[in-house]
Amino acid sequence: MPINIAIDGPVGAGKSSISDAVAERLHILHLDTGAMYRAVGLALLRLGVDPGDEKAAMDRIGEIPVNVRYVDGKQHTYLGEEDVTDLIRTDEVSAAASSVSRWPAVRRAMVAAQQRMAAETDMLIDGRDIGTVVLRNAPVKIYLTATPEERARRRYEQNMAAGDNTPYEKVLEALIARDHQDMNRATDPLRQAEDAVLVDTTQLNFEESVEAVLRIVGKVYGN
Ligand code: DC
Repeated sequence: MPINIAIDGPVGAGKSSISDAVAERLHILHLDTGAMYRAVGLALLRLGVDPGDEKAAMDRIGEIPVNVRYVDGKQHTYLGEEDVTDLIRTDEVSAAASSVSRWPAVRRAMVAAQQRMAAETDMLIDGRDIGTVVLRNAPVKIYLTATPEERARRRYEQNMAAGDNTPYEKVLEALIARDHQDMNRATDPLRQAEDAVLVDTTQLNFEESVEAVLRIVGKVYGN
């Protein structure tokens, strides 16, 4: 059985960067499943399809070739042969990803692809439904979170460093809206799996968060 580690949590909890660091220390791959929903969102925007229109999204999902490949151990996300890794981080694509991820047909396609990868390879997978749906039997499940205010503060600082001066209140508002959409959709909403270990990073710095996750992994897979 390959090593499978499931990490879920809301936007801005540090999932991606913490998962990257943990996977690197364990010498396993990290699959960021949000990138796959983002690629679908980008593809629909390019097709001129409203990502909030379920029927239109369903009609086109079959022709959206989302692929993930690893280059020097790092995930790259593709639409067909086009590497869209750097194009899927805009606010517009974030909102589109949150919308498309509501549709069962989209979720089925993404979940099946994620399960195929995890069945073959040692992987840490992060997302919203990994412990509850994708890897229901994962030996390690972690729910990573922090208060909305702290998550918004981190996002605000990242934005400022990147030259985006969106006011803190606006960042917090968008984050709460995305939480609401992700936690209240009908299909596979974000929630903590019953057997997941909660890691609240509100009071932890990055290194402490990585250590907290590694300790939980170590209890199952050894150090
Ligand atoms: O983690 P992220 O912000 O890159 O995810 C983008 C969107 O995709 C997010 O709003 C929720 C959705 N998503 C999901 O529904 N299921 C996953 N496993 C990962 C992401």
